[in-house]
Amino acid sequence: MNLPPASPSPFLSVLDGALLDPPPLWMMRQAGRYLPEYRQVRETAGDFLTLCYTPALAAEVTLQPIRRFGFDAAIIFSDILVVPHALGVDLSFAAGEGPRLRPVADAAAIAALPDTLNPARVEPVYAAISQVKAALPREVGLIGFCGAPWTVATYMVAGQGTDDQAPARLLALREEETFARLIDHLVEASIAHLKGQVAAGADAVQIFDTWAGVLDPRSFERWCVGPLGRIVSALKAAYPKVRIIAFPKGASLEGLEKIVATGVDGIGLDWTADRVALARRFGTRVALQGNLDPLCLIAGGAALDAEIGRIREDLAGARHIFNLGHGIKPETTIAHVERLVEKVREKL
Ligand code: CP3
Repeated sequence: MNLPPASPSPFLSVLDGALLDPPPLWMMRQAGRYLPEYRQVRETAGDFLTLCYTPALAAEVTLQPIRRFGFDAAIIFSDILVVPHALGVDLSFAAGEGPRLRPVADAAAIAALPDTLNPARVEPVYAAISQVKAALPREVGLIGFCGAPWTVATYMVAGQGTDDQAPARLLALREEETFARLIDHLVEASIAHLKGQVAAGADAVQIFDTWAGVLDPRSFERWCVGPLGRIVSALKAAYPKVRIIAFPKGASLEGLEKIVATGVDGIGLDWTADRVALARRFGTRVALQGNLDPLCLIAGGAALDAEIGRIREDLAGARHIFNLGHGIKPETTIAHVERLVEKVREKL
């Protein structure tokens, strides 16, 4: 068999087909408020969006968790809501309240969305990626990202985060074709934004579908699987070597099967996933990334050690990338992250 040359990066090697023990490790939201050095830069920047749009600062906070913990991948510091912002949607982050957007909730507002991303919003992201790339050791992979069209649409239609994503679900039920136009628009915008990140130096991209789990199977197929398939095809056509990880949080085993069929290189698993069934189902067809409950990392102690051990054992025969099942929480103790790094890299 003609194997591709092994990547110097364990993270990228697993996405390219290798099975490694110990598994490579990174954490969703690894640059963030649990780190004192992040809080300091965040204060200097003043607000979250200024931090996202100032390349030197975004690059600095992207590198902080790599320096402190030696993770195997860096994820560019940005936000999934940069895409609607670059489509002209007003966006702000009020302290402690999460995002606020000018709602895009009817046919007229959707038709008025521009076809191209505002360079003033996306170029700083690409500049930050180039800066991080120049500073990273070759063994550390660099991840770009975007939100999946469905998840981004839930924020655009509601104008904020919601518990049950009811505004977007209702629009999809009442005006299916109108909602489809919004999703189509976001597919094109996501492709453009991911291409920009890969051109700037991202080795892999992750597509965050945080709210995939609230949809019935038919809607999941229409609003999550179909759009993801279009993004994967377009990105791989432009950049055949780019690795793509999908994170459809809350998806069922059957749902994940459809996500894998889009041609992604890896799937992110939340902590509710049945790891043993997944390892059996997918074998080494795709990399499995996850899936420690972020609350285990708050709890620490014996609960943390035991769960890390179970995850490594359950996924020992799989192409495993160790990660959390969702983003790290701001109240997480640094000593627990240090323990995680030690346990994940221990010889079994
Ligand atoms: O993973 C990383 O370290 C990279 C950076 C990153 C951020 N957001 C930084 C951020 C990534 C990959 C995201 C993705 C994101 N953003 C998602 C999908 C993943 C997920 O967590 O479900 C979503 C839904 C968003 C939208 C968003 N951004 C919300 C709902 C919030 C407010 C809630 C919160 O956690 O504060 C944000 C703000 C945000 N994005 C922060 C960070 C570090 C906190 C802002 C601050 O520093 O005050």
